[in-house]
Amino acid sequence: KIIILDFGSQYTQLIARRVRELNVYCEIHPFNHLPEFDESVKGIILSGSPYSVRQDDAPQVELSQFHNQYPVLGVCYGAQYFAHYSGGEVIPSTIREYGRANLQYIDDSHALLKNIPEGSQVWMSHGDTISSIPDDFEVIASTDTVRVAAYHIKESKTYGIQFHPEVTHSSDGKQLLENFLVDICGCSQDWTPDSFVESTIASLREKIGTDKVVLGLSGGVDSSVAAVLLHKAIGPNLHCIFVDNGLLRKDEFEQVLDSYQHMGLNVRGINARDRFISQLTGIKEPEQKRKIIGRVFIEVFDDAAHEVQDVKWLGQGTIYPDVIESVSVKGPSATIKSHHNVGGLPDFMKLKVIEPLNTLFKDEVRKVGRALGIDDIILSRHPFPGPGLAIRILGEITAEKVAILQEADAIYINNLKTSGWYDKVWQAGAIFLPVQSVGVMGDERTYENVICLRAVGSVDGMTADWSHLPYELLAKISNEIINNVKGINRVVYDISSKPPATIEWE
Ligand code: XMP
Repeated sequence: KIIILDFGSQYTQLIARRVRELNVYCEIHPFNHLPEFDESVKGIILSGSPYSVRQDDAPQVELSQFHNQYPVLGVCYGAQYFAHYSGGEVIPSTIREYGRANLQYIDDSHALLKNIPEGSQVWMSHGDTISSIPDDFEVIASTDTVRVAAYHIKESKTYGIQFHPEVTHSSDGKQLLENFLVDICGCSQDWTPDSFVESTIASLREKIGTDKVVLGLSGGVDSSVAAVLLHKAIGPNLHCIFVDNGLLRKDEFEQVLDSYQHMGLNVRGINARDRFISQLTGIKEPEQKRKIIGRVFIEVFDDAAHEVQDVKWLGQGTIYPDVIESVSVKGPSATIKSHHNVGGLPDFMKLKVIEPLNTLFKDEVRKVGRALGIDDIILSRHPFPGPGLAIRILGEITAEKVAILQEADAIYINNLKTSGWYDKVWQAGAIFLPVQSVGVMGDERTYENVICLRAVGSVDGMTADWSHLPYELLAKISNEIINNVKGINRVVYDISSKPPATIEWE
């Protein structure tokens, strides 16, 4: 594996994704929590950083722990750090070095530069520059304005590059990373979804033995893939629990339960609709709704889990970005909504936690799901919030509003699917607004509810832009909703991006 030491750069996760795309397993570790360097480590990448090496509070790491023992690639700050602490000089650049530049070779005999053409475009993003290097360093590439764009430390497998190979604007960045991983570190590029499935099933079997595991299924990608992996490892000793909180999409509980059963999972569906809705009566405040739903879920789940005798483990679908977030250099980012709470269920369940996906990125979870033969209907589903339609009904929730919203949402989503837009959109849903407006149907004036349609493009939900759905499609959906869903006389489309808006309305 490759270890990526994170100095807090916004691009660190991107480095990891590129490495994995080259079928090499890697892990991100914060610079101040170094992992064990054992024989499984093939090389180390030092990330960039928002800090300057000249700052007193800049992140520090003891280079002698790995320099000359493992191949090292320093990227941006990582490169400057090596130069600075080896006797070179790093100074603020006189011209700001952001954006595109082109490499000119000093020496193309180095493995790091194999198959990268002269003039190759690279992406710069740095305020400091390496102005002089120690004697045992050699410059291997420059650009018009940056003399030390890439260096090699003589007699070693340590390299530094000032540009960012991980961003797509560096046109040969992937080749450079592959050169480092394969030619310099000797990685074998055999980390694939299939190999992950095989080795994970083996290690789950070994770890769990004949113990029983309970796992809460949500219908989403992560919990479904985690369940199928565990099921392949331990069969019916995995007890899945799928709770119907009455706030799912129309017919979703039945359909998803059915597909889980078809996959052979040992799954129990629990209808807890009344328990949720009765607790939500009269509650208007979004965070309070979330807390109630979270609490009732735990109660229902706990009751169901107690019915499984002698259970030892709690399975969870936690994925890698959640793990990185909770140990990152900067610490967990400020909580904006109470849902960003990694860790899931509270301690009182007293079970050991098993998280088979906690080394995977979202797109890798999907690939693993495909390797496991999970139906694309589950793998390509849009994200859906845990509190479900409760946060898509603004203000107080009633069974009637839920039913209206389910109908309107089903019309919306079906139209996205039949028009081919479902897969082009990252997330979509209908929202029940807390206003009524005047309309006219036949000879009568109406005073009814408004449904808002939301559809966004995004990568990870952190930022999002509204999807430019065709007018004709919006017109068709609007007509169908108003003509078929009693209680709705107006449909609007949300054209706000995140930030400053959020994806959900509550
Ligand atoms: P926002 O509205 O914060 O949403 O832009 C970002 C992503 O998070 C989802 N979301 C939630 N997921 N519990 C969840 O499990 C919640 O309380 C919750 N609130 C928002 C939202 O659907 C989007 O994908």
